[in-house]
Amino acid sequence: MKQRRSLDVFAWTVVVGGGGFLLFMTPLRHISWPEAIVMIAFLLAAEIGHIPLPRGGGYVSVGFALLFGVGLIYGPEVAAWLGALGTINLDEFTGKVPLRGLLFNRAQLALSAGLAAVAYQGIGGIPGSLDYRRDAAAIAAAALVYYLLNAGLVMIYVSLLKGMPVRDQWAVNFRWSAPNYLLQVPIAVVLAALYQSIGVLAIFFIIAPLLVTRHNLQRFIDRRQVFMRTIRTLGAILEAKDPYTKGHSDRVGRYAGAIVRRLGMREEWAERVELAGILHDLGKLGVRQRVLNKKGRLESEELAEMRLHPAYGAEIIRHAGLLGEGYRWIRHHHERLDGEGYPEGLEGDRIPLESRVILVADAFDAMTTNRSYRDAFGYERAVAELRKHAGTQFAPELVEAMVGLTKDFSPIAPVAEGDGR
Ligand SMILES: [Fe+2]
Repeated sequence: MKQRRSLDVFAWTVVVGGGGFLLFMTPLRHISWPEAIVMIAFLLAAEIGHIPLPRGGGYVSVGFALLFGVGLIYGPEVAAWLGALGTINLDEFTGKVPLRGLLFNRAQLALSAGLAAVAYQGIGGIPGSLDYRRDAAAIAAAALVYYLLNAGLVMIYVSLLKGMPVRDQWAVNFRWSAPNYLLQVPIAVVLAALYQSIGVLAIFFIIAPLLVTRHNLQRFIDRRQVFMRTIRTLGAILEAKDPYTKGHSDRVGRYAGAIVRRLGMREEWAERVELAGILHDLGKLGVRQRVLNKKGRLESEELAEMRLHPAYGAEIIRHAGLLGEGYRWIRHHHERLDGEGYPEGLEGDRIPLESRVILVADAFDAMTTNRSYRDAFGYERAVAELRKHAGTQFAPELVEAMVGLTKDFSPIAPVAEGDGR
């Protein structure tokens, strides 16, 4: 509720700020109606090709180059108004975006485009009369103002909307968008320069490269989506073969990700550890069903077969090229600190940190959920077990990170589970 109120306060403050800013602007002193219509048409066309961010809640548009160019050509008044009017996209009218979001977008774009042009003029840039050498600093300052306002305001909005820390939003959705802005700045500059000699026609020469930019960006996003779908499909295939792992892989992934976040690792890395956690037992696909689903003790050669699963899993992931070097984390997720684990009997720090994290997450989840041969331990007993084997099996600091993480623990959907062997 509190978060909802903060979102409202934030969004409406920006709306009032942007609206007030627009009231002081008189764009038609600087642009004719026909030119304004052409510019708006092209801006809207660029918006149609906007690209949703991977985790939802925002998008990147190639309209930046055009809008930024408008600021260099016509100055803040026109940039602010075209920022507000020329950036509407269809989603905003299909009921998917609430009025608050629609007005927030208009206001933040008016402020970003308008104030960027104000910065440009403030450092000596003259709208409509661009000189590369004289105006380099002014262009850089304007681009920075635009990016900081645009990305910053949207990032805060989405963080409040999703209840996700701004830092994570930055890592997942915005850090990679910075080069996209940067690459569009030269396009805007060329647009402004060309405009000086051929007028509004310049915009036609700029559209083609913009579409190429858009296309490449779309391919990047598509690749990421295919990647995530592949990971989930692999998880589902394993669950089909070994129903006892249902939910287990997913939780191990989430615990492992949360542990490394707690250790202060970069979000990108944490996400990769989470995926490795989800896939840690994938190699069980290579273990015979009879052995995998056997109730009770395994014979020694069955145990040997079972113990091949980390190496199998690592090989699949390595061949698929899914997690980069992360395949090693899967290979070593049953190594013990004292060197008594498998497959290589690595000791202490020679075991990748990520593998040690997955081991603790795996053990914790195995103990706090029902197994085919025993009921779940209570939380206290699971913690006592982890601590008892800290230093021999588990890394003590990771055990404590796991405990800290789950202080207010209640098991996530306890169902019958595999035994993590
Ligand atoms: Fe395993």
